Amino acid sequence: MAVKYLEEYKIFKLDTAHTSYCIGIADVEGFLGHIYYGKKVGDEDLNYLLRTCEPPFVPFRNNRDRTSFYDQFPFEYSGNGLGDYRESSIIVRTPEGGCGVLPLFESYEILEKKPKLQGLPATFDNDGKALVLHCGDPALGLKVDLIYGVFEEADAITRSVIVRNDGEKPLWLEKIYSVCMDMEDRGYEMLTLHGSWARERQMDFRSLGYGKQSVGSLRGETSHQEHPFLALLERGADRERDGGQDRGEVYGLQLVYSGNFLAQVEKTQMNTLRVVMGIHPEGFCWKLQPGESFTAPEAILTFSDQGLDGMTRSFHQVIRKHLIRGPYRNRKRPILINNWEATYFDFNTEKLLKIAECAAGLGIEMLVMDDGWFGHRNDDSSSLGDWKVNEEKLPGGLSALAEGVNRLGMKLGIWLEPEMISPDSELYRAHPDWAIRLPEREPALCRCQYVLDLSRREVRDYVFESVCAVLHSANIEYVKWDMNRQLSDLGSAELPADRAGELYHRYVLGVYELQERLLAEFPELLLENCSGGGARFDAGMLYYSPQIWCSDDTDAIERLKIQEGTALLYPLSAMGAHVSACPNHAVGRVTPFETRGFVALAGTFGYELDVTRLSEEERAQIPEQIRLYHRYNDLVREGEYYRIASYQRNHEYDCYMVVSRNRREALVTYVQVLNRPNYRSRVIRLKGLDPAKRYLVEGLKHLEGRRIGGDALMNAGLTIPGMWGDFRGMLIHMTAE
Ligand code: GLA
Repeated sequence: MAVKYLEEYKIFKLDTAHTSYCIGIADVEGFLGHIYYGKKVGDEDLNYLLRTCEPPFVPFRNNRDRTSFYDQFPFEYSGNGLGDYRESSIIVRTPEGGCGVLPLFESYEILEKKPKLQGLPATFDNDGKALVLHCGDPALGLKVDLIYGVFEEADAITRSVIVRNDGEKPLWLEKIYSVCMDMEDRGYEMLTLHGSWARERQMDFRSLGYGKQSVGSLRGETSHQEHPFLALLERGADRERDGGQDRGEVYGLQLVYSGNFLAQVEKTQMNTLRVVMGIHPEGFCWKLQPGESFTAPEAILTFSDQGLDGMTRSFHQVIRKHLIRGPYRNRKRPILINNWEATYFDFNTEKLLKIAECAAGLGIEMLVMDDGWFGHRNDDSSSLGDWKVNEEKLPGGLSALAEGVNRLGMKLGIWLEPEMISPDSELYRAHPDWAIRLPEREPALCRCQYVLDLSRREVRDYVFESVCAVLHSANIEYVKWDMNRQLSDLGSAELPADRAGELYHRYVLGVYELQERLLAEFPELLLENCSGGGARFDAGMLYYSPQIWCSDDTDAIERLKIQEGTALLYPLSAMGAHVSACPNHAVGRVTPFETRGFVALAGTFGYELDVTRLSEEERAQIPEQIRLYHRYNDLVREGEYYRIASYQRNHEYDCYMVVSRNRREALVTYVQVLNRPNYRSRVIRLKGLDPAKRYLVEGLKHLEGRRIGGDALMNAGLTIPGMWGDFRGMLIHMTAE
């Protein structure tokens, strides 16, 4: 039984294969306390960890010091304004202006499956039951349900919160986090992912100081800059030894959400930590009329005593099996060629078909036509919103192009940016009020465009219908759904003043609704999300698209860092990665074509170049890369990922591997970023193999045809010879009999 109520001890216990999560009811008033989360323990009475027999005591015993009690009790979900001076999880304003709230336990339910979250992406099919703790604050007439899902096999727990106004007056929800977790500080370090355009998701470690340390986004999307994730690591768990990050205790939390978020750790006077995560409270205020409810997005929590590697495996498993949906989730994706870096806006059917023809001959399976095929868009200054084909570029429209591409035996995919509106568009001229803007200001342009107000049904319907018309007009089997600017000037022509603070979240709900409708209309469509590269690469979007474009930086060496940070949380099957032309358009670097292939093989794989203009020598390598893709993609998509070495931290080389679930096959990717003079080979120790199996090693000349035991490969290691030149790579394949 993965969820239990230990009635005698008044403890709720959630067990996964290797972890336990315990919540206790502290006294007659119903204070819910966080007792423990960590390595699996027995069904003990651990209520003593709530320390209610120590000063300042539980109010039931000593009411003189209620504020001190509130300020020190490890609340499972903290209230606001009543004496807990640490971070609140919820703020509720009454019509009179008061803001006190404290949800107390009322009753519970243990369910077979987690309830669905209305309008929000969430994990599903949990194999270990679910718990709902019904809490309430009678002074406000507010009900607060804390929802927990247990993923036994994946060692993960999900949390979300639903609040309902059961009173007679309206209430305004000014903050609602999805997670609050109070815990002892054992000298943890904090890991987050930071970045910028073309530099997404780089790992950032810091030690914890007293007070609050946080990452967040107020950009209306998860952002290039920060990521809805944090981990707490036992000191040393991050340090790269040879073999990397497979030791030490790690807590990982991520939010299944694609808008403004906050992820924060607060170190208190008592050396405890309060970890919170949820929608960013700044700019957020949601009106709850009597009877109305609000659902906070889901967060996924993991604990591992096998370092970051353990955390990664849990996240990958949950996301792969319980979050990504649709026909492609377990399927090999078509190898695509995208014309963005090949032509930018300067293309027509003839040019595209030439690229497609050459690509088809090399084994590439799908042509993706990127930005610039609609309206009069010849640069980024116009036409977003006018989803009508530009017949000057594409005579005969999309259907003629699709027929041409299909005749070559290839599929056709297209780029769309449905959430946007260009001031220079028919749509804007007809509906200037459809852009998000403040009435008293000229809205700020970003990439020459505004954001559509997706909180409005008529706007969502227009977007849906125009996208459907495009997709029904030809045989289009893939869509790259882009989103190229962050939100600003938050104002909606329709939302009344006391609902203005709902716009950020309503926008995200609008995006989710649109993608859900799209998938219902086109169930076979392969959707790839994108946002100026990887600004909305998050678990929320993965519920709708099985893959997301990782970054506009396609340089293989920069990608090592970006893909390391991305793969820390997300399965390789979700990572859009392409081979592009050199000198690379983002950094001007020249790397061997072969290395570009090895790095892109860790993701969904494709090309982003004009294949007709490659050198003979480079073009000739494509069929070999495609052969490798077909040979290894099942393993890459479904296998377990292990980090062996991190270029981001050692500045010299990168190494990771994937191992099949039955441990019979493994693939190691090794990239020597910088060569060194006068050194001997490098010894790397592998991971995740079966110590009892013997593996045939392929790809290392000096060991070709040798069988080596898994125990030796993991403990003694392999020698990797230096390669002449920088940016060189190799794949080492291993099979056991
Ligand atoms: C974004 C995407 C690119 C490309 C351009 C087109 O930047 O990340 O891949 O599609 O938009 O404008």
